[in-house]
Amino acid sequence: MCGIVAYIGPKNAYPILIKGLKRLEYRGYDSAGVALLNGSLQILKKEGKVSDLENFVAGKSTEGTVGIGHTRWATHGEPCDRNAHPHLSNSGNLAIIHNGIIENYAALKTELELRGYTFESDTDTEVLLNLIEDIQKEEKISTEEAVRVALNEVVGAYAIVVIEKSKPDTLIAARKGSPLVIGIGKGEFFVASDASPIIEYTKNVVYLNDEEFVVLHRDGNIEIKTLGNIQKTPYIQKLEMDLEKIEKGGYDYFMLKEIYEQPQVIRDCMRGRMNAEKGWIKLGGISEFANRINNAKRIIITACGTSWHSGLIAEYLIEELARIPVEVEYASEFRYRNPIVNEKDVVIAISQSGETADTLSAIQIAKDRQALIYGICNVIGSSIARASHAGSYTHAGPEIGVASTKAFSAQVTILTLLALQLAQSNGSISQSRLRQILYELEAIPSKVEGALKTNDKIVEIAKKYKDAKNFLYLGRGLNFPVALEGALKLKEISYIHAEGYPAAEMKHGPIALIDENMPVVFIATNQSAHEKIVSNIQEVKARKGKVIAIVLEGDTVIRGLADEVIEVPETDELLSPLVSIVPLQLLSYHIALMRGCNVDQPRNLAKSVTVE
Ligand code: AGP
Ligand code: GLU
Repeated sequence: MCGIVAYIGPKNAYPILIKGLKRLEYRGYDSAGVALLNGSLQILKKEGKVSDLENFVAGKSTEGTVGIGHTRWATHGEPCDRNAHPHLSNSGNLAIIHNGIIENYAALKTELELRGYTFESDTDTEVLLNLIEDIQKEEKISTEEAVRVALNEVVGAYAIVVIEKSKPDTLIAARKGSPLVIGIGKGEFFVASDASPIIEYTKNVVYLNDEEFVVLHRDGNIEIKTLGNIQKTPYIQKLEMDLEKIEKGGYDYFMLKEIYEQPQVIRDCMRGRMNAEKGWIKLGGISEFANRINNAKRIIITACGTSWHSGLIAEYLIEELARIPVEVEYASEFRYRNPIVNEKDVVIAISQSGETADTLSAIQIAKDRQALIYGICNVIGSSIARASHAGSYTHAGPEIGVASTKAFSAQVTILTLLALQLAQSNGSISQSRLRQILYELEAIPSKVEGALKTNDKIVEIAKKYKDAKNFLYLGRGLNFPVALEGALKLKEISYIHAEGYPAAEMKHGPIALIDENMPVVFIATNQSAHEKIVSNIQEVKARKGKVIAIVLEGDTVIRGLADEVIEVPETDELLSPLVSIVPLQLLSYHIALMRGCNVDQPRNLAKSVTVE
């Protein structure tokens, strides 16, 4: 995680760095800092948010047309001023910002200490910087060459930017496993973890590949080389991002804005990919590999967190509609368990950020075993998108709130289309059933709008239950992953302990937890399981639990039983997760807000988990 941003050009770097850090703050917010070159090498850094850094800097001089900035998500060393980036080398000539982990930092540190180096911080980053300095001095080579040699010695993941006091006309950046984008302006360069700090100034970007480094010169020259010292030609791409889309647009929090964007996001996600009247679906990403995907003996879905929950929904959909066996794996487990995967398998990797380190490694393992990789990502040009053979973008626009909302809905939409397209290709669905589902899908955005209308009711419910210590979320079938996702939303932003379970599993253990203090959220929008869910609700009521039920409009049976009822519009049962999730997102949002939590930047989390 961590956000990094850097600038070299004719303008004052500081305002550009601060603005960029604010856009990158979703990646980490343990501390923030900048280094500016203005004859001297000035470092300004502070524990806390970017706004704490701004307060700290107020009144101080911030001159300099070269600079680097960092917002940290601590991995090595507690969040504090001392461990904040940028770090300085022992001689004071070099400064670095780093995103990632240097795994062999301890051995390198011991070696450097023996050679007389001292360390101000507990970070792995400072070790890397002094390694660069040591190599430069010992081998009497340029800093860029020393960076290259040092990076060949380290194990781990990084995106780094290095500046040098004695060379105010160059910036050096490199990456392996952590993202890095270079913005090419008129006589100026930008470097950042994602394009959001750059878009305001230029749409021309170069995505640095793994194990490449770049030297950016003030005179406009850009040199890219691999760590093996092979020269590369920069491949300049045009950004398609919209600045307006990454601002809050009148909402208090990004999370709320993103929840409310869902009807539009689902529309955008379906646009050009289906037509109910004509009964066709076309995910462009499939065409090149259509044969292999259609003939897959098995589909393995791998992802983390919310994206893993979308994967679970896809398992139900693909098996039900396309009759292809599906396995859903946590990427973090898959990558380490020597899985059986071969060239007949299709591996679907789902990731909002497209940068999740575990998911990237899982892809690598599947690729090594010749499986076809289908990536479903939101961030265009992200590492996972580029590492996949084929794929589809969710087109949800930038998701800034750390708790994923609209990206989830977009993922479920794409996965539904994928299941339907597979079903159509292998003949496991009739054309009339296909069209029926497609019509329902077209109507989903307006049904999600209907679900958003439950907001006022949810505020009232949140007031009543905000002080609960635990929550249970229960659902059956397709609503089981929705229960998991509802519980995850609550725990990550309100810090209330919450568990999601298949409703029928409750009696195998969690029922022991139920008493008058336990709110139980039932997701009861699937008609086929209605009677069974009603029995589960009875079981909770019999033990004095408090029942909050998400039901279809007009469900008088559950209304008569539950303590609270939230009614959402009916849709085809296969599509119900897209509607049922909305009140759960709103419930967690309001509870978190009432408990005084920062909903967009929950403690200990970061948006893009680029470390193990
Ligand atoms: C979602 O609310 C979480 N913050 C988190 O679980 C997230 O979904 C997970 O880290 C995966 O991220 P990705 O989709 O960007 O790969
Ligand atoms: N390992 C570095 C630190 O702890 C960078 C952290 C990160 O990118 O997550 O400061």
